[in-house]
Amino acid sequence: MASVELSLQFVAKELVEEAQSWRAQALTHLQMLADGRCAGGEWTGWYDYPQKNGRDLTKQITSFSKSLGFSYDLVIVVGIGGSYLGTRALAEALSGKEDFGQGPYKKIVYAGHHLAASELADLLSALDHHEPLINVISKSGTTTEPAVAFRLLRQYMEKRFGKEEASRRIIATTDESKGALRQLAEKEGYETFVVPDDIGGRYSVLSAVGMVPLTLAGYDAVAIQEGAHSVFQELSQTLQSKTPHPALDYACLRHAAHETGAAVEVLAMAEPRLTSFGEWWKQLFGESEGKGGKGLFPASVVYTTDLHSLGQYLQDGKRHFVETFLSFQSSPDDALIVQYVEDDLDQLNYLAGKPIDEVNEQAVLATKLAHHGGGVPCAAIECGPLGEQTMGALVAFFEVSCAVSGLLLGVNPFDQPGVEAYKENMFALLGKKGFEPQREKLLAQIQK
Ligand code: PA5
Repeated sequence: MASVELSLQFVAKELVEEAQSWRAQALTHLQMLADGRCAGGEWTGWYDYPQKNGRDLTKQITSFSKSLGFSYDLVIVVGIGGSYLGTRALAEALSGKEDFGQGPYKKIVYAGHHLAASELADLLSALDHHEPLINVISKSGTTTEPAVAFRLLRQYMEKRFGKEEASRRIIATTDESKGALRQLAEKEGYETFVVPDDIGGRYSVLSAVGMVPLTLAGYDAVAIQEGAHSVFQELSQTLQSKTPHPALDYACLRHAAHETGAAVEVLAMAEPRLTSFGEWWKQLFGESEGKGGKGLFPASVVYTTDLHSLGQYLQDGKRHFVETFLSFQSSPDDALIVQYVEDDLDQLNYLAGKPIDEVNEQAVLATKLAHHGGGVPCAAIECGPLGEQTMGALVAFFEVSCAVSGLLLGVNPFDQPGVEAYKENMFALLGKKGFEPQREKLLAQIQK
């Protein structure tokens, strides 16, 4: 049995057959991906990463974290896009969205993923109540959002702890040799970890990009790597036996939906703690596939919350999307039970004695039946209990299916040329050196 399963019970037979017709091509793409011979092959270092480098990396990070000669209760992750979304996705999935400070993990807060002064000011003003450690993460080392936030945070740390201790409390994850952050880290003597050259941001969570902050906050990086490894092992068997694999079947389903007119894929999760996982998933698929006028627009919803806001559209609006339900085996530890009450004024006694998880599962099943009945193809990705191993497996599952889905679509799933357009305009508008001609053009456009 695969560690992550796909169910197509609520997908129409015609779409399932269309998806199956892409299986042979998906296998060919998987082989090219595994060999680094696909489009963007120079960016496939993430494939089989746990086997190739993951174990050495986790050992290195664990021994570093044990050697820290100071205490800390807060990890500040400074990064944007692929440099922070994976960490946030896993941390929140494993410890919950609202951190009440009770769990075994240290709190992680995030900065550098926006340019809103209000949020940064709130963070800076809360820091005096904590013993912070910073992990600044930027592959290029020149991205504006994290660079702006890091300038402020660095000043704060130096003022509060003095330059020497501030330097020990700052860890940089960046390119091995180039970029402004590498230069700064060397000048200031920060500990550094490397973002491998052959791994792009959105595929980087299993590298130092995600493993450093997660380990520093107490998550089990070894178990995450093991979970991911199990998927790569299954895939290597798939390549030998040429049999179907759920990650490939999911890629085929997405492609079949795209080819038969769907424009959107909605990832539905009945767990608020997966909200940020949805954000990671959206970046993965959005940046990998949204090219050349192609690709499903990735959206995510959290149930049952969003059934009370988007439910009407999903049931009855434009039929241009597929829905993918993501679920985990419930754990007996979460067994909160609906209580019996004598007066039954809220009329809930018919649920008395039932675990709330079971009520949630029935709500999801009811939703699948309703949406399927309303003409929406409803696929389901079913995982083991929510924990480090399962999350590692799920990351590998989605990374592989995304890459294969992009290759089926005929795009390079590892570049993101479209992201540059806003950056160039921003640099021009803010008066960065070298962007003078664009500035003239934009100002003329605005003044019209
Ligand atoms: O997936 C990507 O490549 C992007 O989201 C980058 O991770 C993001 O733009 C941040 O880039 P950098 O790590 O160079 O600061």
